[in-house]
Amino acid sequence: MATLDGTVALVTGASSGIGAATALSLASAGATVALAARRTARIEELAAQIGASGGKALALTADVTSEADARGIVDRTVTELGRLDTLVNNAGTMLLGPALGAPMEEWERMVRLNLLGLMYCTHAALPHLLTAAADSPRQVADLVNVSSVAGRFPRSGSSGYNATKFGVTGFSEAIRQEVTRQHVRVSVLEPGAVETELVSHNRPEIQERHTQRFADTKKMEPTDIADTIAFVVTRPWYMSVNEIVLRPTEQDT
Ligand SMILES: NC(=O)c1ccc[n+]([C@@H]2O[C@H](COP(=O)([O-])OP(=O)(O)OC[C@H]3O[C@@H](n4cnc5c(N)ncnc54)[C@H](OP(=O)(O)O)[C@@H]3O)[C@@H](O)[C@H]2O)c1
Repeated sequence: MATLDGTVALVTGASSGIGAATALSLASAGATVALAARRTARIEELAAQIGASGGKALALTADVTSEADARGIVDRTVTELGRLDTLVNNAGTMLLGPALGAPMEEWERMVRLNLLGLMYCTHAALPHLLTAAADSPRQVADLVNVSSVAGRFPRSGSSGYNATKFGVTGFSEAIRQEVTRQHVRVSVLEPGAVETELVSHNRPEIQERHTQRFADTKKMEPTDIADTIAFVVTRPWYMSVNEIVLRPTEQDT
């Protein structure tokens, strides 16, 4: 029996990068996975890929900056797949640049997605995670929040992103203390640079600066983070991995 057989996981931001890799990784460990993102074609394709390799997946189109959508994906996961054992709050965006003259719209977008979206999904999922922890033979359920190295270490040129990811780290630890005795584990992942679409949403001059900064650095792959998430959620019930900072070996700051 695979370790996650009989469990259901919901992954936000499953249409690319870390989220897509995590969905594949949890599915191959035996979980049924709900895939949430705005790009329907991408998540439907991923669901088909998981189905073709013997797994089960459900594509859920959603914009998690809408509380109704966030609640909707949690409700549909439970209604259509029967339960919710694992929520991976992964959807996020990183819009960098100096604070002086930063477009306020970028800061607002990050707060709405990285912080509020994650809070909406968590709020909707918590009762179901508590139920799963109480009735699962595994005796545990998992809330995994993908923060960033930027959620632990501030860096010049990253203030808005830092603010949202520090928020994720603090939110996670407070919730961990509230639910850990009921066997809902809360884990925060804080990756450094990973090779994904993340940087492509920045203004051209910011992308250029980022490319120069990492010119001599081998970034991590989405599968590296997905493997770590799979490790976290397959620990025995009495062990909770609370926080992990992961950086490319060649990333100094
Ligand atoms: N890559 C890195 O270097 C790195 C490092 C540290 C932390 N992280 C964190 O890792 C997470 C995943 O990022 P990634 O690197 O995999 O980047 P990515 O490839 O750009 O993935 C971001 C995901 O978020 C989804 N998303 C964006 N807006 C959304 C919305 N309003 N509602 C629902 N889903 C939305 C995107 O899907 P749609 O566009 O289809 O909605 C996509 O699936 C983020 O939280 C990021 O901050 C990344």
